[in-house]
Amino acid sequence: MDKKKECSILAIESSCDETAAAVVVNGRRVLSNVIASQIEIHQQYGGVVPEIASRKHIEKINQVIEEALAKAGTSLQEIDAIGVTYGPGLVGALLVGVSAAKALAYAAKKPLIGVHHIEGHISANYIAHQELEPPFLCLVVSGGHTHLVVVKEYGVYEIIGQTRDDAAGEAFDKVARAIGLGYPGGPKIQRLAEEGNKTAISFPRAKIEGAEYDFSFSGVKSAVLNYLNSCEMKQEEVNRADVAASFQEAVVEVLVEHTIRAAKRLGIRKIAMAGGVASNAALRAGMDLACSRRGYQLYYPEPVLCTDNAAMIGAAAYYEYLRGVRHDSTLNAVPNLKIGER
Ligand code: KG4
Ligand code: ZN
Repeated sequence: MDKKKECSILAIESSCDETAAAVVVNGRRVLSNVIASQIEIHQQYGGVVPEIASRKHIEKINQVIEEALAKAGTSLQEIDAIGVTYGPGLVGALLVGVSAAKALAYAAKKPLIGVHHIEGHISANYIAHQELEPPFLCLVVSGGHTHLVVVKEYGVYEIIGQTRDDAAGEAFDKVARAIGLGYPGGPKIQRLAEEGNKTAISFPRAKIEGAEYDFSFSGVKSAVLNYLNSCEMKQEEVNRADVAASFQEAVVEVLVEHTIRAAKRLGIRKIAMAGGVASNAALRAGMDLACSRRGYQLYYPEPVLCTDNAAMIGAAAYYEYLRGVRHDSTLNAVPNLKIGER
């Protein structure tokens, strides 16, 4: 590592539908966090269209990077390293960020650090909670992933549970579409659920035999679709707020239960949450209650650091940098990159 104490990282994220760049100092202090969201474009199609995502990333990436440097009051020359998400995600989308990062690293002769997107989500907690240090247990719940991860030390992860089918956010998005709310569904379900009764309809909570930390959300999603169909057949009016609240409750209950069970068995008293669904108010409240009952410490980032952003990539890149991880110009996008792979 450099002799000077401060390490500024320019971080780039383009794995899905946000083009983002940030400057982060020592993995914890965010100087800028610029996010160009494509949500409005994809909303017209009810979900992310990969080809459109790539094209929009290309249009925005340089501008977003320049803005991140300008807002941080720094320049490429003053940056110590460049971090970039190289997987998992949409291959065409990832490639835009990876190519930009490689070009900048080559031109400015800076170290290049490829970052795993989920390790980035987890690391958002280092920004939000300056005192947080491993080991801790992290529930990662996003549009593409649902993982229970033990963060053993900086950059060292063990996945102890994951979804067998849909990710939690994906279930929110699919149910939202079924009840006529648009994309992305999570925040819309949350809003509608506030007006509903969470005990009105009993949706299933899936348990997986022999894999008590794994999740499955396709069953609850199908149960909602069946419920909507049967109401239609019987020409009964659907109370959408009750459906939203009851569905959300079923998902939250399973997420909280599995996380607390793992913490108890593993003797871990620090629990963090990460990813877009971690900004869900019902999940936060449920986890808050469960943790405070048992004296566990709970951490989650503010909503802007839960959904996709580049500051979290800058935080993860810093700890990779300290561990000596360096990539070269052969770095490629890896759409199905596994946690812990280098
Ligand atoms: O982490 P993220 O921005 O992207 C991925 O890496 O997938 O997560 C996006 C997901 C979407 O499925 C969205 O519906 C969900 O997070 N989400 C929420 C909330 N805000 C975003 N789900 C439930 N409640 C929310 N408040
Ligand atoms: Zn994400």
